[in-house]
Amino acid sequence: MEFERVIETRTATRKFKADRISEENIQKILRAATLAPTAKNQQPQRIYVIESDEALAKVNQVCPCIYGAPVAMLVCADKDAAWHTPEYSSKEMDASIVATHMILEATNLGIDSCWVKYFDPRAMAKELDLSENIAPICIIPMGYKADDYAGNPAHTDRKPIAEISFRL
Ligand SMILES: Cc1cc2nc3c(=O)[nH]c(=O)nc-3n(C[C@H](O)[C@H](O)[C@H](O)COP(=O)(O)O)c2cc1C
Repeated sequence: MEFERVIETRTATRKFKADRISEENIQKILRAATLAPTAKNQQPQRIYVIESDEALAKVNQVCPCIYGAPVAMLVCADKDAAWHTPEYSSKEMDASIVATHMILEATNLGIDSCWVKYFDPRAMAKELDLSENIAPICIIPMGYKADDYAGNPAHTDRKPIAEISFRL
C-alpha cells in the first residue's frame, strides 16, 4: 500500500470478525516492531502475542477493549533494558514508537487494529504472570473489522494544521 494511503486509512477498529491473521502477517508485524527506533538502540520492547483462547480470556478479564479480536499484541518494555537515568526512562516512548510501527504495518497488510491503553498494567502483568521488570504499555487488538462495524466517528474529527503547528 502507498504510505500515504496507510496513514489515511489507519483507524481505531472496535468490532472484529473471528477470522485469524496468518502467521506470515504476524511475522511481518513483529519484524516492523524490531525495526522501530529506540533510545540508544537498546530495544527494550517485548511483545506478547496473545492468541490462545486461554490467554485471550485472561486479557479480556482485565481489559474491556479487545473487541472480539482473534489476536492482541501486548506491547511491553523491559524496564531494565530501556535507556534511563535516575529521573527518566524511555520505556513508554520506545514502546509507543514500536506500537506505531506495528499498527502501520498491520494497516499496510489490510489488518485492522486499535491502540488500547484502558487497562491496569499491574493487573495485566499479574494475569499473564509477567516478570517484575516487564512493563505493559499498550495492547493492540488486531484482525479484520466486523462487517457491521460503522467505523470510529472520531477518526474524521481532526484539528486543522494551523491549530496544531507553529512556525517560529
Ligand atoms: C494513547 C492512546 C490510548 C488509547 N486508548 C484506547 C482505549 O483504551 N480504548 C479504545 O477503544 N481506544 C483507545 N485509543 C484509540 C483512540 O480513541 C483513537 O485513536 C482516536 O479516537 C482517534 O481515532 P482513529 O484512531 O480512528 O483515528 C487510544 C489511542 C491512543 C493513541
